[in-house]
This record gives sequence, C-alpha cells and structure tokens, in this order.
Amino acid sequence: MDRQQAEAKIKELKDKAVRANIAYYEDANPIMSDREFDRLLEELLELELKFNLQAPDSPTVRIGGNPTKNFKNVEHPVPMLSLSNTYNKDELFDFDKRVQNILGHENYTYHVELKYDGMAMRLRYENGKLILGATRGNGTKGDDITSNVRTIRDIPLSLKNDFPDVIEIRGEAYMELDAFAKMNEDRENRGEFVFANPRNATAGTLKLQDPGIVATRPIRFFAYDVLFEDNREVHQSEKFDLLKKWGLPVCDVRKHCTSIDEVSTLIDSWADKRSTYPYETDGAVVKVNEDKYRDVLGQTAKAPRWAIAYKFESEQAITTIREITLQVGRLGTITPVAELEPVQLAGTTVKRASLHNEDEILRKDIRVGDTVVIEKAGEIIPQVIKVLNPDAENRAEPFKMPECCPACGSGLTRTEGEAAYRCTNPSCPPQVRIKIEYFASRDAMDIDGLGEAVVDQLVSNGLIQNYADLYTLEAAQISGLERMGDKSADNLIQALENAKNQPFDRVLYSLGIRFVGSKVAKDLAKAFKSMEAIAQATEDDLTAVDSIGPRIAESVVAFFKEPQNHALVNRLKEFGLKMELEETEQAGNNLDGLTFVITGTLPTLKRKEASGLIEQYGGKVTGSVSKNTNYLLAGEEAGSKLDKAKKLEIPVLSEKELFKLIGK
Ligand code: IVH
Repeated sequence: MDRQQAEAKIKELKDKAVRANIAYYEDANPIMSDREFDRLLEELLELELKFNLQAPDSPTVRIGGNPTKNFKNVEHPVPMLSLSNTYNKDELFDFDKRVQNILGHENYTYHVELKYDGMAMRLRYENGKLILGATRGNGTKGDDITSNVRTIRDIPLSLKNDFPDVIEIRGEAYMELDAFAKMNEDRENRGEFVFANPRNATAGTLKLQDPGIVATRPIRFFAYDVLFEDNREVHQSEKFDLLKKWGLPVCDVRKHCTSIDEVSTLIDSWADKRSTYPYETDGAVVKVNEDKYRDVLGQTAKAPRWAIAYKFESEQAITTIREITLQVGRLGTITPVAELEPVQLAGTTVKRASLHNEDEILRKDIRVGDTVVIEKAGEIIPQVIKVLNPDAENRAEPFKMPECCPACGSGLTRTEGEAAYRCTNPSCPPQVRIKIEYFASRDAMDIDGLGEAVVDQLVSNGLIQNYADLYTLEAAQISGLERMGDKSADNLIQALENAKNQPFDRVLYSLGIRFVGSKVAKDLAKAFKSMEAIAQATEDDLTAVDSIGPRIAESVVAFFKEPQNHALVNRLKEFGLKMELEETEQAGNNLDGLTFVITGTLPTLKRKEASGLIEQYGGKVTGSVSKNTNYLLAGEEAGSKLDKAKKLEIPVLSEKELFKLIGK
C-alpha cells in the first residue's frame, strides 16, 4: 500500500468509526459489535502509525479526541491538565524565575520525577475500594475504563493501611520495554500487527472493549499524585510515601531538591542513565514540592504553573548502511533489514535496523552505502529516519525486492493491499523452524524443553519437518543431540505426552493459522466445538461469530483448503491431541484471559465450586501463585499463597469480590 492508498483507507476507516459512534451513542442502534469496533480501531491505528498519518481528531487518539464508542463518559472533578515543556536549561531556569517572581520569595523546593511515557489515568477510591479508572480524554471529560483498569495487576482493588474515605489518584499506565518487545514478538508470530512503541500499545490496549484481552497485555502503572476531598496540604514528596503505603506502585527514580541548580544536575544524570531504565521516559517533571503554593501559582488554560516537563534530547545517531538483508518470518513474511556500521545509541551498540517493507524503503529512498540517521526514541528496534546523502553521486541502485525467497528460492507473492511479500513454500526451512517453536511455545502447547536450539537441531538433522513429526520422535533420537542426555530426552518425550492434555482451543492456536491468536482460537472453539466443524466452515459461517471478521475468516478457510494442512491436523488427531471442545457450561466471559489461584476456606463455596464458577466465566485456575497469576481468591486461614501473592503484589479477592467481578 502506498501513502495515497493509505490516506484513502484511513478516511474510509475513520468514517466507519464515526458512523459506528453515532449509531451507538445517538441512534442507540449499533451497527457493529464491540469486537468489530476494536478491530476497526486497531486497523486504523496500524495504518496511521505506519504512514505517520495520525490526525489529532482521529478516533484512535484518546487525548483531545471524542469519547470512544462503548465507554461511559466521566467528568473529572479536577481537570486533568498537561504540562508545559522545556527543552533546554535556559528554559528551565526561566521557569524557576517565574515561580520565584509569583511567590515573591525563595522558600520553596522541588520534587523531581521521571516523565513516564505512557497514558495518563485517574483512579478513584471510596472507602479504600477502587470504584473508577478513567482516561484523561479532553482534560475535563474522559472515558470510564474501570473494567479494563481492574485487570491491571499493579493497581490494587483495595487500599492497604489507613486511608481517607475518598481519594483521587493520578498516574501513568505504561509498558516495560522487555514485556512490550515480547508481546510484539508474539503478535508478529501470530501475524498480528506490531505496535510502534510502548505508549501506543498502552493507549491502544486500554481503549479495547474487551477486558479479557487487556488482562493479557503487560500494562503497568505508576502513581504520581493524590487529590484529597478535604484539600489537605501534603507535600509532593510525602504524597509518594502515602501512595506507597496504600499499596500503589510509585517510581523510585525521584528526588527532593532544594535548588534549581540541584534539579539541573539531577536531570543530566537521569538523561545519561535513561537507557538503563526498564521503561520509556522522555524527560523529567519538575514540581514545586510545597502543596500550598500550587494554588498561589495557579495554572494556564492547559498546564499548571507549579510544574514543568524537561524533555530529554531524542536518541539519534548517524551511521552507514552496509547491506540490506532479508528475514523470513513464521508466516513467510519477508522483512528487509538494514545491516549497519555498528554505532552507539542510547547505551547500546546498534548493528541492525528494521526497514519494514519495500514501500517504506522506496519512500525514504534508502540504498546500500547511504549515510542515514537512525533513531530509537520510543521504538525498541531502531528505525532509519532519513538518508543524509540523497543527492550524492555514485549511490547504489534503488532497493528492489528479489523475486525469490532468500531462504528456499521459491517465488514470492504479494497480496493485494498488503505491503509485505511472502514466501508461500510450507517447507521453507526458517518458516518450518519458527512454526515448530510456535507450536511448542507457552501460550500454545507449552512443551517444556523444546526451545529454539533443540528445534534447530531436530530440523537440521532431518528428524522432523513439521510439528506433527514431533510425535514420532523417540528418546534415543533426541538424546544424541548436542547438550541433550538421556534425562532431557525422556523429559521432552514426557512433555510432549503431557501436551496431549492441552485443551482444544490451544491445539487450534498451535496450528499457527494467520490471525488466529489465543483469543480468536478460544472464540472459534466455543462457537464450532470441533476441528472438523471449523475445517468445514465457510467464510460466512465464520464471520457469523461475533468476534470473527473477514480477515480471520479468509485466513482460516485458506488454511484448511491446503491438503498438507489437513494432513497435519489429521496426524495430530491420530497422536491423541484434543480436537473437540470439552464442554463446561459457559455462563459469561467476564473472566476471560484471567488466571486465578484459590487458597484458604471460602465462606460459602467449596474449592471445586469456586474453580468451576471461575471457569464458567472464562477464567483459568492454577495451583500456584506466580507473576502470571491475576488474582488470588482467598478465604479464612490462607497461608503461604497469600504471602506470596502479597509479595508479588497480586490482587487478593474475597468470595464476595469474585461474585461482584462476575456480576452475581
Ligand atoms: S504531573 C497537571 N508527573 O505527562 C500535571 N505527569 O504532559 C499533571 N506524565 O498527561 C501531570 N510522568 O500523564 C506528571 N511524573 C509525572 C508524569 C506525568 C508522565 C504525563 C501525564 C500527563 C503528561 C503531561
């Protein structure tokens, strides 16, 4: 898709979203399901980001945007302002002078915090219970996203220790860089679009209508302000202590400074350390620490005069392109990659940058040998921003996508309307390896001991050619591999055997059908009940399911049309993998995607009844508390599990709170 086509498509999607909003809000006559609306917004966001075409009034932009479809609107009792920015030390010192002039003295200090790069959020607790989570919206009104906020494990449902009856908390939802990268990798493997940076991923996620999906995304939270009903005076530095005491997460990178010189030195040291933080930060926020001066200093229409943001410089470097190589993904997508002259950037040595696709390369006219600016701001993988020598003589020829797959030599195809070229040879070696790794991965069949290195050896030694072949392996074949002994071979065979107990929806997910992630696999399993029925379904049958759009339907039909895929599925069936849904009566989907652990004696429910209930509402119950646990359901005499949950800051629910969660 070129830019012009993207513009047209964006317009079409925007119109659709606006029509859906009107139909929903004004006509009370929805024209699409919540899921369809989410998908529409995701598709729009993907295009806007790819072509840098996100207009401030886009339905994908939360701040300043109109309310999104399904969320209730909430008015903020105190407006959620933004911050004025400064980009250099002169402006920082000017800010201090202004504060001094207005106050007429120098008896104030500063509290300096990092500026977390995510999405602003407002939480309201009444009698210690979380009753509201809202976005900033246009500053005076935002969206009530409480159901999504409840799935964020950092945010306690109940406050600890003593607290006022009503408090408002302000803070930032964000994603850690590692978790973001892992999420994107999984998305890429599933053929879903990848988010450009953690901020977009956070905002995009919290805009979803389905809390079950939100729960599976690695959203974190930092609190940075408290508002009290009685307007009591509490210094900014003390607010952090209170927040911590109540069980809210606060960032430890912060400092109380007594002069603007101290602030200035501190900011420099943070800028140097910027790349060592596990999350994105684009600057520091300097706040007058004494609460009583907030009123005196007041605010402009948009921003307070008692605080200012100091923006760090963006992280760019200049280097040259040695070569443009091609990477083959699980679904055969060919991604061009710039191999760079190694260069230091934000604390790491960068050797490669993604070039996305042919259109992008041609648009920026990137050629081998060019001197380019690369940037890491916001993105994990550096991007080539621009070419510095576009008019130089003797530049290499413009990039041209080869006609054949660089790994297996088969012809490449490009689907109408898609930027990516694909290798459609199912035996293409890198694709085979990645498909098997995907089959074994945690969200799929979860086969312990079948990581990249083992799969690589199994494939390159000719022991397996696809995931069904895994079930023909014998211990003796595996124990001969590098760094595998009898014990690990037996363990792997056992793990493969155990995986036969994985439920049907996971088997479906493991097949690696494009666009069929865990959630879609669950929905398909629920709707069609067996692999056979899915394999025979037409696109119309599939799109009749609420969450299944035409893109997914087309992909499912195409998968089962291929005789070799049929053969693979039949073999898996013969090996004893589950091909049918095991019926547990489904009562609702309030707990979709959430993992629970149960401990202690509950007031009315027996353990088994509680886990049955959780499963009926789409949740999962596991035996031990880990960082993957979303809630601990605890009764009387809860023991070590409760301690562990507290240590990991996992929300603890009572039976009553569970009932509330499922709307009983
Ligand atoms: S104080 C009235 N502190 O920056 C001022 N904001 O441009 C409110 N942000 O939307 C904000 N880190 O979401 C404050 N330590 C921090 C922050 C922070 C990030 C965001 C915030 C706000 C935006 C303002």
